[in-house]
Formats: sequence, structure tokens, C-alpha cells
Amino acid sequence: MVDVKQLTPLSYQLGEGPYWDETNQYLLFVDIMKGDVHRHYPDNLKQQTIHVEEGPTGDSVSFALPVEGKPSYLVVGLGRSLALVEWPLDAPDTLTVKAKAILHSVDQHSPTNRFNDGKCDPMGRIWAGTMAAETAPGVLAKHKAALYTLNTDLSIATGVDKISLSNGLAWNKEATTMYYIDSTDYAIYAFNYNAASGKIDNRRTVLDYKAASLGDDIPDGMTIDNNGNLWVANFYGHKVICIDPQVGKIIRQVSLPASNITSVCWGGTDYSTLYVTSSQVGISEDKVRTDKAQGGVFAVTGLGAQGAPPTNFKVDLSLLKSKIN
Ligand code: BGC
Ligand code: CA
Repeated sequence: MVDVKQLTPLSYQLGEGPYWDETNQYLLFVDIMKGDVHRHYPDNLKQQTIHVEEGPTGDSVSFALPVEGKPSYLVVGLGRSLALVEWPLDAPDTLTVKAKAILHSVDQHSPTNRFNDGKCDPMGRIWAGTMAAETAPGVLAKHKAALYTLNTDLSIATGVDKISLSNGLAWNKEATTMYYIDSTDYAIYAFNYNAASGKIDNRRTVLDYKAASLGDDIPDGMTIDNNGNLWVANFYGHKVICIDPQVGKIIRQVSLPASNITSVCWGGTDYSTLYVTSSQVGISEDKVRTDKAQGGVFAVTGLGAQGAPPTNFKVDLSLLKSKIN
């Protein structure tokens, strides 16, 4: 039986970036416009928060990815910069931190752009994309953003240019295909992925939202299960959809009590819990005040599917430390 539980009664403005920390068995997620990163321990429901101080290109925090071998180090998307922050395990429950290093800043041509979703590929590189400022969810200047790769030697490359609203990322377990979402294209793409070089090519469409009659749903965050099926968060859709990318068909839908579903990840000891984040942006103040599910974070169990442990950022620690002033 599929069961959907809100983690705590807390809700978030733009909950995003769920990520299961294998080392410490907690769920990380962010509240983008607030500049907060949260960690939630499902065993005792303890929750801790850091607020990241504004960086040189903005104050949004769009993802937080642990560094392999030093999980208290997180690489975050801070404004349109990639920054290193430290969050010790024994930190007080709330803490404000300043970035220890700014690794790169991008999109100088469009100063109000910000980073959005980011995730590590099977080799431990970070793929993170940007988006222009929005006037409402999905309403923004098109083709002013890009998807970037932060390599394990800390060099940066452009993976895909002329992106509008960079979102979900996933790789198949054979590490031959990368799936990617540019939200305002209302499509899920696949690319051939070369794990050794980190290069992608041969873009094709796996699912076209309009052709699949998904109405106004915006495709947002995404993960993949051990059978190679994609699980996609549908903003405005009250749901996560499961797609078999081989045939380009929706094979399951999971309804959620929140409207604006933003992202998904597998977690829990055996990676059979699907953690789901949501957003209050675009929902009336009244509704947000009276319905605590809007902007909630959920644990979905009983799906009969599982994911693989996520890959942390694999960077040489001495090289990373050399960037800290
Ligand atoms: C972005 C939001 C955007 C939403 C649309 C999210 O990833 O952070 O700003 O409104 O995608 O689905
Ligand atoms: Ca997202």
C-alpha cells in the first residue's frame, strides 16, 4: 500500500533539492529563496537548519551536495555562484554560515539569473543549471540560462546552452544516458552520456507533457529507480509521475496533498522511500496559512520501487581546501 506522510508539520516557501546523505542517514533539502538548507533525521524527527549568507551573486540556495569523504562540506548553488559551505554534525539546531569559498560564478550576461537544480553524475561531477528571474512559476525570459558541469578538478564547463529553466537530472545505472528537464519546454529529454569525458550529445524527447495531456503541470525535479524508470515532480500537478523512458509512457502516478511538487529523491536505509518536496509559490496566502501540506516535505513508502545511493561530489579535498581563504 502506498503511504504518503508529511515529515513534520513544517512547510517551506520553495522546498527543493532533496538529497539522502548516505553517511549520516539524513535527508538534506533547501528552501531556495530563503537561503536555507535543512537536514532531517527520520529516526528521531530531529531537524536542523543553516541559513547561508548572501554571496557575491545573490542569496538563493538552490541545492546542497555533500563532498565525498567530508560530508560536512556542501557545495551549494548560491545566487549564480557555486559555493562551498561547512555544516558540522555537532552544529546547533539553527546556524548562519558564510560561504568558505566561491568556486565559480556564471551567467554574467544575465545578473539576475540564479542556479536551480544540481546533482552529481555517476563519476561525481556536479551538473547544475541556471534560470532567469521569474515573475510567477515558469514565467521568465527564455534561453538565457545554461546547464554547467563542475568537474572533479574544479574546472567548469557548459553542458547545454540556451536553457530556460534548468531542472531535473538523472543517469541510468549503466551510465550511458543522462535525462534532463528544461521545465518551460514541458519535456523530458535524454542524451547519450559519456561517463569518462562527461560529454553529452544526441538530445531526444522522452516525454512531451502537452502531448501526454498533462495540462498545466510543469516538469520539475526527477530521479530514477533501479528498473530504469523516471520519477518526475509535477509543479501545479499535485503529483509525481513515473515514466518508462524506453517507451516514453507514463506508467504510474502518485497523488500528493501539495499542489506544487518540486523534486524527488530516494532515501531511507534501503532507498525505498521516495522523498518529495513542494513549494508555496503561486498559492494564495490564505491557502498557505490554512493548508500546511502546501510547501510540505513528504515521505512516500510502499511504492515497491527502489533507487540507488546518490553520488557525492568527488573532488580532491586538498584542492578544495586550497580555495578557502
Ligand atoms: C524552480 C522554481 C520554478 C519551478 C517550476 C523549480 O525548480 O526552483 O523557481 O518555479 O521549478 O517548476
Ligand atoms: Ca527543481
